[in-house]
Amino acid sequence: MQVASPDGRNQVTVELRDGRLTYSLDRDQRPLILPSLVGFAFRREPPLRDGLRITDSTRQSHDEWWTQPWGEVARVREHYNELAVSVTETDRPIARRFILRVRAFDDGIGFRYEFPRQPGLAEFVIQDELTEFALADNARAWWIPSNYARKDRSEMLYSSGPISVLDSVQTPLTLQTQDGRTFMVIHEANLVDYARMFLRGARSESRTLTAALAPMADGSKVRGRTPFVTPWRTIQLADQVTELSPSLLGLKLNPPNALARTDWIHPMKYVGIWWGMHINTMTWSSGPKHGATTENTKRYIDFAAANGFGGVLVEGWNTGWDGDWIANREAFSFTQAYPDYDLKAVADYARQKGVRLIVHNETSGGIENYERQLDSAFALYRSLGLDAIKSGYVTDLTTEGHSHYSQYMVRHYRKVVEQAAKYGIMLNVHEPMHDTGERRTYPNMMSREGSRGQEYNAWSGDGGNPPEHETILFFTRMLAGPMDFTPGIFDLLIERGTGRPRRPDEPRIRTTLAKQLALYVVLYSPLQMAADLPENYERQPAFQFIRGVAVDWDTTRVLAARIGDYVAVARRERGGQSWFLGAITDEEERTLDIPLSFLAPGRRYVAEIYADGSKAHWLDNPLPVTISRRPVTSATRLRVKLAPGGGQAIRIRLAK
Ligand code: NOJ
Ligand code: CA
Repeated sequence: MQVASPDGRNQVTVELRDGRLTYSLDRDQRPLILPSLVGFAFRREPPLRDGLRITDSTRQSHDEWWTQPWGEVARVREHYNELAVSVTETDRPIARRFILRVRAFDDGIGFRYEFPRQPGLAEFVIQDELTEFALADNARAWWIPSNYARKDRSEMLYSSGPISVLDSVQTPLTLQTQDGRTFMVIHEANLVDYARMFLRGARSESRTLTAALAPMADGSKVRGRTPFVTPWRTIQLADQVTELSPSLLGLKLNPPNALARTDWIHPMKYVGIWWGMHINTMTWSSGPKHGATTENTKRYIDFAAANGFGGVLVEGWNTGWDGDWIANREAFSFTQAYPDYDLKAVADYARQKGVRLIVHNETSGGIENYERQLDSAFALYRSLGLDAIKSGYVTDLTTEGHSHYSQYMVRHYRKVVEQAAKYGIMLNVHEPMHDTGERRTYPNMMSREGSRGQEYNAWSGDGGNPPEHETILFFTRMLAGPMDFTPGIFDLLIERGTGRPRRPDEPRIRTTLAKQLALYVVLYSPLQMAADLPENYERQPAFQFIRGVAVDWDTTRVLAARIGDYVAVARRERGGQSWFLGAITDEEERTLDIPLSFLAPGRRYVAEIYADGSKAHWLDNPLPVTISRRPVTSATRLRVKLAPGGGQAIRIRLAK
């Protein structure tokens, strides 16, 4: 049985082979995924995979446009053809059955399993999901491992190589076929009550990847009872690398917005008492260097108000940070402030200035401690008019011994999103569950980390993120959804923390200053931080770009790119006529030839260009930025010159 995308190019075949159900995927009649098994291993039950018979199949089509309350694009077309195949076991006294539901879109496919209520399967424990992805060719992959020393986090650097060498990797997994004709991204969508999926390679010359689920403390993967549906397994498809982003497939496989009102949800830029802790000039804990004091916070609020920032993040405001805050995770209070921080006074002060505090909730994985306090904490924040939280889960295992990415944690994250929505609170989650598109259903789920962000440039033992890092992130992690990368460090050599410029072998920022600006356009987040200390923005003309850049978009176009080398993106601000362009490169200098054909024809614009200064170089001369203005139209071609480790940021406004 087959189902094809509306444009007819992507075709999924579902068929029985020796009593086992398989799916395969072709694009333009070219095989991409060879017949691949589906099924499950259960605890204390035989696997559900063998001796199957197809009992029924249904088809439907869907074509609908909807508007995102905020996003990298405003309008999304959800257009697919669907095939649902029902199968049952033939050789057991009480046969079990399930449905494989497949949706074929022009930009990829998704499939999931559905278990109807049935006598042979009531309560169950899944030990393993047996879904395979048998790749037709030894495609090149960009990946981060999942069986690493810090096995439950996603904060590693990316590697690239043929899939036959993969061991165990995280999704989104980005692949390019050997002939270069097709890009594929394997991921999942609508992860609500299940374990996070990883992909396991065969560790041989095999090209078959298998789903692997994160375990709970007792080794089980998923506990449920029928009726039950799994997350979607998704394969995004594109001919050109520039078509991979914006990636909307996962959103289209999540249920529509569940909130009655979304007018309280607002993308914004923010500053915060944060970088100081990472470069050691402040502490989260109490003491002489305590960052979260009333006075210091007021200074940040003044700075935010003077420069048009919506939020001020304050970390280390609540008790529990003294001593080893990871080991003492059950001691965090989410309502009690340190004595030198008057929460109500700063919340009021911020409000008068038209700014809002972003409340920090670091749990360190003390999940029960956090859940016990959710109601009282959220009620307190709401009573103070605070509507945004940055949370954190610095841990590999929860107190109860569950994997960071287990079903237990999936349920926890969902509970927090729902609770937050009830209290009118937006979320920015660090060390999160990976993004599977839940922002469509809960648009208060704004941003998350879930990757190696700017913080590594402050303290990482390997010296920080290499210049190519963000050119890979864009085509891997960022395809899952927004990331709170926290760009905008201007003191690139971290002189202020150390009293001297850091040496090249010490952790520091391995970009030019212009590239820090470009990241505001390249790395999408509806909550975008200006991460440096306010004093580092003083008397810096380049700061003007950060003040002016938008955070919510009507349209996004990737103009030029090669994974790991460079990327140039243009975005039009939501509800406006201004465009912003960001271009970044790896350690190579390059000049991109960029036609501005995305501009409205016949209109005159002015481009404000923040470029790498002459002789700028991430290694030994990262600071020079040249700011210039020039008239442009849709017929203009820009020569965008990027220094080694450099970037360029451009604001394009209608001419007066
Ligand atoms: C890790 C987060 O990514 C970082 O932003 C935060 O400052 C620390 N945890 C402390 O919560
Ligand atoms: Ca982190």
